Amino acid sequence: MAEAACPEQEPEVLRLKRLRGGGFFPVPPGDRLGRCRSVKEFEKLNRIGEGTYGIVYRARDTQTDEIVALKKVRMDKEKDGIPISSLREITLLLKLRHPNIVELKEVVVGNHLESIFLVMGYCEQDLASLLENMQTPFSEAQVKCIILQVLKGLQYLHENFIIHRDLKVSNLLMTDKGCVKIADFGLARAHGVPLKPMTPKVVTLWYRAPELLLGTTTQTTGIDMWAVGCILAELLAHKPLLPGSSEIHQIDLIVQLLGTPNENIWPGFSKLPLVSQYTLRKQPYNNLKHKFPWLSEAGLRLLNFLFMYDPKKSSYFKEKPLPCEPELMPTFPHHRNKRAAPASAGAEGQGKRGKP
Ligand SMILES: Nc1ncnc2c1ncn2[C@@H]1O[C@H](COP(=O)(O)OP(=O)(O)O)[C@@H](O)[C@H]1O
Ligand SMILES: [Mg+2]
Repeated sequence: MAEAACPEQEPEVLRLKRLRGGGFFPVPPGDRLGRCRSVKEFEKLNRIGEGTYGIVYRARDTQTDEIVALKKVRMDKEKDGIPISSLREITLLLKLRHPNIVELKEVVVGNHLESIFLVMGYCEQDLASLLENMQTPFSEAQVKCIILQVLKGLQYLHENFIIHRDLKVSNLLMTDKGCVKIADFGLARAHGVPLKPMTPKVVTLWYRAPELLLGTTTQTTGIDMWAVGCILAELLAHKPLLPGSSEIHQIDLIVQLLGTPNENIWPGFSKLPLVSQYTLRKQPYNNLKHKFPWLSEAGLRLLNFLFMYDPKKSSYFKEKPLPCEPELMPTFPHHRNKRAAPASAGAEGQGKRGKP
């Protein structure tokens, strides 16, 4: 258990430097935080994901035999310390407890101060790699089952004043028991009332709401609802709904699908910061019905609803086929584990920093 990274081992020597006046002051044992376990207590089994902010391993907790996900926290090369995105992820996730939100069990440390890992409940699938590897699309009953769980998780987040800001299929996990969990809180933010301006560049392009593309600085929970609309459509069609290749292209795809917005249907639209920079194509129709000719009225209403307001009153989930129970979700092959195990299974992983 002895760890170089846990100096609490020698309580008498813990002193902090004074910011004013120089010298040191002792930190009494009662004021110190608890000790983190070492990542050495986990056996890395294989790499399962590698996104923008970190490497994720499937691992075994050697103390309990439990299978977990270990996410290595990316460190800022330029600045010392933990990047703000990881700090946000840790502080938010530690407070959140919900069946449809990924569970952060604890934070563990490696040999160096800059190696920190999140230990999370393991989910056998993420929807991105699952969709990639599935031969047949999800049934409508399964799509409803997944989206309902996403909405439950999201309702919990929104009730707690948290906007996820990066919902997409690769950030939705699923267990072999059919339980869907929202993951990756690297961009999530707690918001206050009234809403304060935030950085507009959030949410992967394909799932980005039009107000973000048009430069809004007051972000609402509506940006997550928009992303859920994109995800629902993607699950139903078995392909991404709006795969834009640039911001201009993304806006154009939205306009082609839903019609040109105007001040009547979207009050405040013409005052958005970037509206004058774009010449939107004139498209008077909503083409969702043409894109999903087989989808019921309620299904189309929900999609249109997600691309605007709150979905809670929709009847889509109450008509046949009814959403299947999570237990009735099929168990899918574990495609991600077929990839090679890490070359060095050492406790420090690949020691890779920055963006992979
Ligand atoms: N708790 C988990 N269980 C199983 N797989 C996970 C878990 N957390 C993350 N992953 C996998 O790792 C990938 C990247 O993790 P994520 O948290 O989204 O980080 P990033 O910010 O790098 O995108 C996910 O898309 C998923 O495949
Ligand atoms: Mg991710």
